[in-house]
Amino acid sequence: MSEFEPTIVAFFCNWCTYTAADLAGTSRLSYPHSIKIVRVMCSGMVDPKYVIKALLEGADGVIVSGCNPGDCHYINGNYKARRRIKLLKEILPQFGFEPERLRLTWIAASDGLLLSEIMQEMTEQLRALGPSEARLKMVI
Ligand code: FES
Repeated sequence: MSEFEPTIVAFFCNWCTYTAADLAGTSRLSYPHSIKIVRVMCSGMVDPKYVIKALLEGADGVIVSGCNPGDCHYINGNYKARRRIKLLKEILPQFGFEPERLRLTWIAASDGLLLSEIMQEMTEQLRALGPSEARLKMVI
C-alpha cells in the first residue's frame, strides 16, 4: 500500500514566499508535489472563506505564508493575516478539522531552503494526522 500523500493548498504572497518557492525550484530543492500553490499579492488578502473552502473541498491542510513582520509590501497585510489565522484555528474544530491542518509562516524571498523544509515538515505532520474528514467523506 502506498504512503498517504496529503494535499496541501498553499497561499503564498507574491513578493516573498512565492519567490522563495521559485528559488527553491531553481536551486533544485525538492518539496512534495502534492502542494497546490495559490499566488496572492499579500497574505493579508487570504479571506478566511478560502481556507475553509479548501479544507471542505478535500485539502488535508492549508498553509498561508507571507513576508516577515515589518516587510509586508502593503504595510500591515501580514499582521492582518496573523490575526485571521489565529481566529480561524479557534473555529476550525467546529467544522471538524484539527487546528494543526492550518499553518501560518513567514518565508522571505531568499529562503528557498526554509520553504522546502517547512513544506516537508507540514507534509509529515499531516501524514501523522491522516486524511481529513472531508476527504474521507468524498471517497465514500
Ligand atoms: Fe507579502 Fe504582504 S506583501 S505578506
